[in-house]
Amino acid sequence: MVNFALVGCGFIANKHSEAISEIEDACIYAVCDKIEQNMVPYKEKHSALTYNDYDLLLQDPNVQVVNICTPSGTHAALAIKAAKAGKHVILEKPMALNEKDANDIILACRANNVKLAVVHPNRFRPALIELKKLLESGAFGTISHINATVRWNRDKAYYSQAPWRGSRAMDGGVLMNQAIHNLDLLLWLMGPVEQLKAFTSTRYREIECEDVAVAIATFKSGALGVIEAATTIYPKNLEESISIFGEKGTAVIRGVHANEFEHLSVEGLSEEQIGKIKNAAMTTQQKSGHAYIIEDMINCISQDNEPLVGGEDGKNALELVLAITKAAESKI
Ligand SMILES: NC(=O)c1ccc[n+]([C@@H]2O[C@H](COP(=O)([O-])OP(=O)(O)OC[C@H]3O[C@@H](n4cnc5c(N)ncnc54)[C@H](O)[C@@H]3O)[C@@H](O)[C@H]2O)c1
Repeated sequence: MVNFALVGCGFIANKHSEAISEIEDACIYAVCDKIEQNMVPYKEKHSALTYNDYDLLLQDPNVQVVNICTPSGTHAALAIKAAKAGKHVILEKPMALNEKDANDIILACRANNVKLAVVHPNRFRPALIELKKLLESGAFGTISHINATVRWNRDKAYYSQAPWRGSRAMDGGVLMNQAIHNLDLLLWLMGPVEQLKAFTSTRYREIECEDVAVAIATFKSGALGVIEAATTIYPKNLEESISIFGEKGTAVIRGVHANEFEHLSVEGLSEEQIGKIKNAAMTTQQKSGHAYIIEDMINCISQDNEPLVGGEDGKNALELVLAITKAAESKI
């Protein structure tokens, strides 16, 4: 049994707790929050120990993994402290808000020989796994271009939930908070970006950061890309999509959360074979993305493997967010 401790008992901690409950060898041993009340459900439902002092939590020798679920601007300090205390880290996205903090987290985990997983759960969606397999097999040939879109709604009520939301110091805008998942997928599927031009704007929400962003990119492979991300869509989340166009294949993955093939054609594959791939992609995901990450952490600890989505992946996604933001600021 591996003992997990949730740090920050707000919205996303609930997903972590459900995920831990899904995995046989995992237990919610402790929770930590500055607000006592937020820890009560975990004490009642999971008999978790409660700590309102993070340093005391880290001194508990029974805590093996710390799940950091606090506002994004606090991630680096908390993750580095956890690593120094010898605890493995599951870190919510974005892993940090700047490159130096991301590097420091990676170095602290390496120096203290603890595992670091960054939470990009979309990697475990069946449709995206099928697409990744096709791309890796070379079935699409040379890629000409891609399109990545996040058209969601985060309204005034969402940003008013807590002062950290939409702030530069603690959160970021649509790129850093929402679209970072989609950008992670893009890098995972397409490899590194080479050049960017971008525009961002704060159209409707009263926040410090952008609520809409558009960018065009070139990838090191030579492929071109179009990226669109918005939390301004009326009246609710509309879609998240990834479309990839190659000389021998076309894939469009859509849905509110990019999880179903709207279109798939691949040279040399029969309708029956395409149907099988689409079916595999439609099969209900066995576990939540967060549960895969918990399970993977347990395997990494016991087998001394590196997490499937680790610090370098988290840093790559963060760097793309920062590069788009910088390109938009340069106004060229
Ligand atoms: N992976 C995903 O799909 C996903 C989805 C939503 C949020 N997130 C990320 O999760 C993080 C938290 O988001 P949320 O929506 O759960 O926020 P939230 O405001 O609902 O919860 C944050 C909690 O952290 C506590 N907290 C703040 N500072 C603390 C500290 N120093 N020590 C202990 N507790 C502290 C707060 O009291 C609160 O209970 C953010 O980084 C966000 O980007 C990820």
